Amino acid sequence: MSGLFITFEGGDGSGKSTQASLLAEWLTEQGRTVVRTREPGGTDVGLEVRNLVLHHRGDIDPRAEALLYAADRAHHVATLVRPALERGEVVIQDRYFDSSVAYQGAGRVLNATEVRDLSLWATDSLLPDVTVLLDLDETVARTRLDAADKPFDRLENEKAEFHARVRAGFLALAAAEPQRFVVLDAALPIEELASAIRTRVQQELS
Ligand code: TYD
Repeated sequence: MSGLFITFEGGDGSGKSTQASLLAEWLTEQGRTVVRTREPGGTDVGLEVRNLVLHHRGDIDPRAEALLYAADRAHHVATLVRPALERGEVVIQDRYFDSSVAYQGAGRVLNATEVRDLSLWATDSLLPDVTVLLDLDETVARTRLDAADKPFDRLENEKAEFHARVRAGFLALAAAEPQRFVVLDAALPIEELASAIRTRVQQELS
């Protein structure tokens, strides 16, 4: 059986982890071995990078920030994601290099092609088979995040304009690669979203 690499993307508070977990449950019921992981922080090294990049008090230079996410990604793909895919497993991951292009590219205003190329180098060009983009209006996302009462997070704490740029960045990525992306309105009911995602993934399995 060949491996399948599925990534979930979208703004903070768009419900990626809920949908990733539901899809993992469904695929496990279908008899597939599923690896659930995330970036940043899918490995022990990645957890240290995650702590630095998300919880450091004070600024981090945008290029340094892009390199930190890329470093996390390089180690994660080399030690966890690629080996699982080579064993024929399904990898379901919260965030991947599209997040770097949207947040560091569109959000921090670095060159999108350079940010993408950095990730491609870091991962030896590993691309997802399917990317689910959960698109959500920034103001709705903000309300969800404020209600969640999470600890301080440098990226979530950015201004509304930053999150609007990130959202537009994701939508541009999806428009450029319609075969890889499935774009869904994250405000839809959970079960409706889960069903649309299963339909898309089913095509990949058959
Ligand atoms: P996380 O708590 O995992 O966010 P969420 O629950 O919304 O997925 O934090 C990840 C944060 O890091 C999120 O704000 C997006 C940001 N990020 C980047 O800026 N670039 C990246 O390449 C990745 C993977 C994440």
